[in-house]
Amino acid sequence: MLRIGVLISGSGTNLQAIIDSIESKRLKNVSIVTVISNNKNAYGLVRANNYGIDNKVISPKDFSNKDEFSRCLKDYFIEKKVDLVVLAGYLVVLNDIFLEAFSNKTINIHPSLIPSFCGAGYYGINVHEAVLYRGVKITGATVHFVDSGTDTGPIILQKAVPVLPNDTPETLQKRVLEEAEWEILPKAINLIASNKIKINDNKVIILE
Ligand code: GRF
Repeated sequence: MLRIGVLISGSGTNLQAIIDSIESKRLKNVSIVTVISNNKNAYGLVRANNYGIDNKVISPKDFSNKDEFSRCLKDYFIEKKVDLVVLAGYLVVLNDIFLEAFSNKTINIHPSLIPSFCGAGYYGINVHEAVLYRGVKITGATVHFVDSGTDTGPIILQKAVPVLPNDTPETLQKRVLEEAEWEILPKAINLIASNKIKINDNKVIILE
């Protein structure tokens, strides 16, 4: 059984996609053992409560420095025996104190086709605003391992969606969420749970 800890900051629709995949048995041998948010008002905490999933707020604001916050988060995940950390709409940058403990065991979902529209400042709706401003014809989502950079770790899965002529940032965000994110995040977790992921020379190889 792969024990996952999910980090959220907001609505938690990606968390809900993981929950739904487990409930529908599409995602087997995976258990969400805890949901942690930096934001006490994150609706994702309500989603966790609805399914009786352990959840709590661990916010950098409650610590005197980032290292203490990272240590507390790391220690909690170790206490819950988490095997895989999943960032699902999580807006806090994790530092090496945390990542050393979960190296190549931390994944993130980003709402663009990395390496486009990613890195510092690219999160949430402003990713889609930048996509429309640039005038690209396809966008999508990426699941990747988290390393010490921002959106720079080895790519696991990507899925493209079209940018339509009348798209607004909101209509585009909805399509990327519904047609890409909610599909590839559970799929990536399933590949990891099935031991079908290998990293070679910082590239992900998916074993058939
Ligand atoms: C999603 O677009 C995700 O890719 C980004 O944060 C947004 C909110 O996700 N990282 P959620 O609804 O809170 O899962």
